[in-house]
Amino acid sequence: MEGCPSEARPISEVTGASKIQMSALTDSMSAARERVNGFLGRCVEALDRESPSLREAMAHGLLLGGKRVRPFLVYEAGRLMGAAPSLLDRPAAAVECIHAYSLIHDDMPEMDNDTLRRGQPTVHAKFGPAMALLAGDALQSLAYEILLGDEGHLPAAGLGLRAQWAGILSAAAGCRGMCGGQALDLAAEGQSLPQARLELLHSRKTGALIVAAVAMGIAAGATQEGREALLAYARKVGLAFQIWDDVLDVIGDTASLGKTQGKDEAEGKSTYPALLGLDGARAYAQAVRDEALAALADIPGDTSVLMDFARFAVERDH
Ligand code: IPE
Ligand code: IPE
Ligand code: MG
Ligand code: MG
Ligand code: MG
Repeated sequence: MEGCPSEARPISEVTGASKIQMSALTDSMSAARERVNGFLGRCVEALDRESPSLREAMAHGLLLGGKRVRPFLVYEAGRLMGAAPSLLDRPAAAVECIHAYSLIHDDMPEMDNDTLRRGQPTVHAKFGPAMALLAGDALQSLAYEILLGDEGHLPAAGLGLRAQWAGILSAAAGCRGMCGGQALDLAAEGQSLPQARLELLHSRKTGALIVAAVAMGIAAGATQEGREALLAYARKVGLAFQIWDDVLDVIGDTASLGKTQGKDEAEGKSTYPALLGLDGARAYAQAVRDEALAALADIPGDTSVLMDFARFAVERDH
């Protein structure tokens, strides 16, 4: 993980927030990252060895860096709803597999045409386009193998819960979710979208998997109170996260981002800075963050880490 952009700078240094205030978030995100990385490593280890290039391409796209934001949200939502961490490993790893697949395909020349991701060559740049397609496809399958399988390295979970997770994740990844959002994103290149359409695009391409992460965490717990409020939080945080991703494409630097700065403008993407200007996009990201924070007020339990995560979503440098 050396050189991983997720460990580039302490959050407090970037945001100016007090180290004490942010240390609980930093600790929780680090713990989630380590936990899911260990589990994902075992899942990759268990993959078939007959196609070594495919296995290598999958490992490259899945294991090299990444903030592991979606697994963190699975663990944190699950904790709030009373689920044990070991019960959350399957959905945490599965949503990251879908996310990794979405990034591999997103970077291909037919989509965003990027050659740098998480400080590494993109999968198609290193392994070729055919292997990048297959690595994305196989990571999608791996997500459902992890949710539904019975292999020894997978922690125990009831079949009903496993089916529920698979339903949540497949809906969020597909036509009504991430893939649908990616299609809207491509269709919007060179266009000036009304804000409501841009919001739909962002909520689908990025928000859907973030909401699914929280929904899978919720499903694993027994607590009923606060479920709707937690989902409302996730919808707002998901939107804020992508608005800030757009902002970072303008104000970030390639080394910290681990991906090429300035690509959105070069590709004529529909983004919040393009629609509202840089200051308008920043202000809107902060307004959506505040809506996320307001949703947390209705949730019992200690939500301070999720509060700090909402702030992190619109203050991070990568
Ligand atoms: C990048 O996601 C693409 C979006 C959906 C915004 P992340 O910012 O979570 O990327 P990694 O996983 O940390 O590399
Ligand atoms: C990505 O959005 C959304 C995905 C579903 C992968 P972007 O295209 O803005 O993500 P980056 O900036 O390449 O990480
Ligand atoms: Mg894209
Ligand atoms: Mg992209
Ligand atoms: Mg982007």
